Formats: sequence, structure tokens, C-alpha cells
Amino acid sequence: MRFRDSVAIDLGTVNTLIWVAGRGIVLEEPTAIAVDLAVGKIAAVGEAADALADKEPQGIEVIHPLRDGVVADLDATAAMLQRFLRRTRHFGVLRPDALVCVPSGATPVERRSIVAALSARRPGYRVRLIDEAVAAAAGAGFNLTGGVGGFVVDIGGGTTEIAAVAGWRAVRARSLRMAGTAMDEAILHAARSALGLIISQRAARQLKMTLGVTGGVNGGAEVVGLDVATRAPRSEHVPGHLVADAIEPIVSMIAASVQELLAEIPAGLAEDVVRGKVRLAGGGALLPGLASRIEASTGVGAVVVEDPLRCVVRGAAEMLERRGEHGAPGLRA
Ligand SMILES: Nc1ncnc2c1ncn2[C@@H]1O[C@H](COP(=O)(O)OP(=O)(O)OP(=O)(O)O)[C@@H](O)[C@H]1O
Ligand SMILES: [Mg+2]
Repeated sequence: MRFRDSVAIDLGTVNTLIWVAGRGIVLEEPTAIAVDLAVGKIAAVGEAADALADKEPQGIEVIHPLRDGVVADLDATAAMLQRFLRRTRHFGVLRPDALVCVPSGATPVERRSIVAALSARRPGYRVRLIDEAVAAAAGAGFNLTGGVGGFVVDIGGGTTEIAAVAGWRAVRARSLRMAGTAMDEAILHAARSALGLIISQRAARQLKMTLGVTGGVNGGAEVVGLDVATRAPRSEHVPGHLVADAIEPIVSMIAASVQELLAEIPAGLAEDVVRGKVRLAGGGALLPGLASRIEASTGVGAVVVEDPLRCVVRGAAEMLERRGEHGAPGLRA
């Protein structure tokens, strides 16, 4: 049975995705909003807002309203979501269902602020919050309705969700408030202290994507920044090991947490986990060398899921479409 009046939202620290029943994924945009300070109006949302972030145009404030996977600026989040939802032209029945994914470590206050951000829209949505890790497991292809369990690691921008899942529920879960954005910042600091170069967040992110844990195929990459002493723009060759060393503390913390959680799973889940492998989702799963690093340190096979950036919203959509089926999540509010 399909429910035409429902939406699934992956409100991420870096990216927001919206899926509408009957239409599929209709929006994928950076979680960002730009405000024109002179008139107090929204200047841009999503990609257009994020593109301004590093450039600091006068009179414009770019806000990334989520931090560590949860709402840090409620008004900005509500305004951004309102624009996004309007753009999807989703005008459902009086109170459409909105399924929103939240990190397992979110506090009750943080959960309430997500509900508040969506309720600010008229007509208000009937908001249900679901565990991001369970959605990631569903999106990663585990047949949760068939009783198959699995192990999933969702490395986003602000949080890393690690979970063993079975029967549409987390069996063991851990949420680290450390993921892709922390890696960008570590690279930014390393470039400054080792090369005397001030680089943008965007440039740091690009270095991370190209070089990752392995140092990249060419052993390094070019970057343009400002000289710390003279403030003159210059380009510099960044050796792969500089990036690998900078992100190492974060990568090893993720690998260690995966190992710890694997040691906590019930014996009955061991076969499912070994057979299904540790599945990596979220944008961070694409970090070059991460899957083999996790595999090497845990001794369990690790694979990157197909289309990892859309994994959570795909799983949430599946939960909406399957609700009511035998064994599927009831999704009570
Ligand atoms: N090819 C890549 N290599 C490494 N990291 C990548 C790659 N592509 C995207 N990322 C990183 O993935 C992160 C975004 O992933 P994702 O959209 O899953 O996060 P999010 O859902 O917004 O955050 P969270 O789940 O923590 O709230 C960013 O830090 C981005 O730099
Ligand atoms: Mg996410």
C-alpha cells in the first residue's frame, strides 16, 4: 500500500534529502540558509546559500543550522525546511506524515526541537522521528522484515552512527559526534601549521575526498590558499600523508568504536553480521581507504553501500512504504 500524503526527511548536518511518496527523492541540498542582514530576509537556501559560505559577502550571513546531527538554530532550520518543502510542491492532506531521521544519541530536547522546526509550517506535519541507524540499515539493503540482522556504520558530516540492527530496531548502537566535518577541520589546521597556508573549508573537504586515508593515487594534490604571514594567495602541493595523518585520530576512533560495538553483539547476530558484512553509509563512507581500514582493524568484511549519500532517506522511505505490513515498523508517533 502506498501513502501519497507522506514525506521522509533526512535532515543531516551537511545535506538534507526529501523523499515524497509516489515521487521518490525530490530534493537534495546542503543544509544551509543565507540571510540578508540589512532587511532580515532569506537570501538563499541550500546549494546557493552554501556556495556563499566561504566567501563572506558583505551583509550576508550564511548559517548551517545543524551541528553534530541535531538542530543548533531552530528558527533557521524551520525557515530552511519551509523553503525546501515548498519547493518540493508537496501539498498533502491536512496533516501529512513526515518521517524524520535523528541520531540515536539525540537528547529529548534535541528531538523536540526537530519536531518544532517542522511544526512551524502550516498545515503542520504529523512528525515521527526514527532512528537514523535503523533507516541506514534498511537503506543498506538488509531485509529487516525477513528477520535478517545487520551491522551498519553511517558516517555523515556531524555524526557517525554505528549500529547492529534486527527486526527494524537497533540491537546495539553508538553515536559519535565526530565525522566528515571534523575531518575537514583537522585538514584545515594541518595545512595552516605544516604549510603556513590558510585554506577554505571547501578546499579542505576536497583534499579529504581526493586523498583520504590512502594519500590518493598521485600521492598528493594541489590546493590554493592564503599565506599565513603575507596573506597573499598561493598554491601549494599537499602531500597525501599530511591529510592521512590529520584525519587519523578520527578514523581510528571510528574503527575502534566499530570494533567495540562488534564485541557487544549477541551471539545470535554474529552469523548475519559476518555474512552481510559491515556496511558503510553516509558521505564519509566514500573516504578513500576507509572500508579497508575498518576491515583490517575489525577482521570483519566491510563494504560501502550503493549510493551511500542517499542511504538513510532511502531506508526511511522504505519504512514509510512498508508500514502496516506484517513485521514492519508500526511508526507510532
Ligand atoms: N567522496 C567523499 N570522500 C570523503 N568524504 C565525503 C565524500 N563525499 C562526501 N563526503 C563527506 O560526507 C559528509 C556528508 O555526508 P552526509 O550527507 O551523509 O552527512 P549528513 O547526513 O549531512 O550528516 P549527519 O548524518 O552527520 O547529520 C561531508 O562531511 C562530506 O564532506
Ligand atoms: Mg546523515
